[in-house]
Amino acid sequence: MKTTETKEKKTTAKTDAKKGTIRAKSDAASGLKELFIDSLKDIYWAEKALTKAIPKMAKNASDKKLIESLNNHLTETEEHVIRLEKVFDLIGKKATAKKCDAMAGLIEEGKSIMEETELGVVRDAGIIAASQKIEHYEIATYGTLRQFAATLGFSEAATLLEETLEEEKGADIKLTEIAVEAINIEAAEAE
Ligand SMILES: [Fe+2]
Ligand SMILES: [Fe+2]
Repeated sequence: MKTTETKEKKTTAKTDAKKGTIRAKSDAASGLKELFIDSLKDIYWAEKALTKAIPKMAKNASDKKLIESLNNHLTETEEHVIRLEKVFDLIGKKATAKKCDAMAGLIEEGKSIMEETELGVVRDAGIIAASQKIEHYEIATYGTLRQFAATLGFSEAATLLEETLEEEKGADIKLTEIAVEAINIEAAEAE
C-alpha cells in the first residue's frame, strides 16, 4: 500500500514537470492591452539603443553604399522613436523604455563581429549580417505590434506601426542588395 502511494506521488510530479508551465510574475500582463504596452516599452528601449549603435556601425563600415544606407536608417530610426512616442500618446500612456534583452544581445553581437574582423570587406559583411538580424527582429516585433493595435481598436497607432514596419523591411532589402553587390565585386576581383 505504501509503495503504491509513493509511486502515485512520483507520477504526479513528473506530469507537472512535463507541462513546463512558467509561473507568472506578480505584475504579469493579464490582458492583450497590457502585453501590447509591455512590448511597446521593449521596442522603445530597442530603438533608442539603436540610435547609438547604428552610428558605431557606420563608423566601422568601409563600403560607401553601406555607410550611406546605415546613415539613412539612422534617420529613420530616430523617427521610429518619435513614432513610438506618438503611439504611447494615442493609447494614453507615458512613453517608457524597458530594457529589451533580445536587442541588447543583437547589438552586443554586432560589436563582437566588429572586434573580430579586420576593417574592410570582411567587417562590412559582418556589419550587414548583424544589421539584418536586427532588422528581422524589428520586422517581427512591428508585425506583432501592428496586429495587436488593430485587434485592440487603436487604428491610428496601427497605421504608425505599419509605417515603421515598412521602413524596417526596406532597410533589410537594401542590406541584402549591398551584400549581393559586394559579393559580386569581390568575386569579379578574384578572377
Ligand atoms: Fe526601427
Ligand atoms: Fe531598423
